[in-house]
Amino acid sequence: MKGIFITLEGADGSGKSSFAKGIAKELAELGILYTMTREPGGTEIGEQIRDILLDNDHEEMGFRAEALLYAASRAQHVKEVIRPALEAGHVVLCERYILSSIAYQGYGRRLGEEKILQINDFATDGLMPDLTLFFSVDPRHTLARKAGAPDRLEEEGAGFHGRVYEGYMQAVQRYPGKVVIIDATKPEEEVFRAGREALLRHLRGE
Ligand code: TYD
Repeated sequence: MKGIFITLEGADGSGKSSFAKGIAKELAELGILYTMTREPGGTEIGEQIRDILLDNDHEEMGFRAEALLYAASRAQHVKEVIRPALEAGHVVLCERYILSSIAYQGYGRRLGEEKILQINDFATDGLMPDLTLFFSVDPRHTLARKAGAPDRLEEEGAGFHGRVYEGYMQAVQRYPGKVVIIDATKPEEEVFRAGREALLRHLRGE
């Protein structure tokens, strides 16, 4: 495939979305073809799955169903958006991907990293990112400053979000060279600069 697949990862409120917005503007200015997308969602089917996943009324949802729904949304996303964009030579920037499932379902829900990797390998037919920018900040700090009503995942307690962060920290060690860790506790401009540097370095093949 000709394109480059880059994922943005990190806890809720870690600054992924602000980074995505800022960097999209720069890529456009540089004349680089890109596709910006996010999970869960990114397709019509995926957005419907997202609504099911984040609905606070779905208290009865089992952890396995949750993991499979994230994987189903991802399967559709890969087929309908990510692979075609990569084949067209785009830089694909995706907010959240398999690492989110490892952290939230594998560690947060305690389903285990191995099982999550297995279902996601099936869902994506083995498509892994070329580069991941991990915005590192403990979600127990950032959730407090998030505006609006919390969704089903955000509503989980500090224990859950602590395990998610722990999971991220464990999992990123397993992909040396593929994951750049960005200190997201720094001021917003500094976080942006660090992410931008890492991304442009990768695009230059450094
Ligand atoms: P979203 O509002 O997109 O989160 P944020 O803006 O903080 O990135 O909500 C997505 C939620 O779904 C978020 O709490 C993380 C969770 N999630 C998983 O649990 N597993 C996954 O595989 C993905 C992609 C997201």
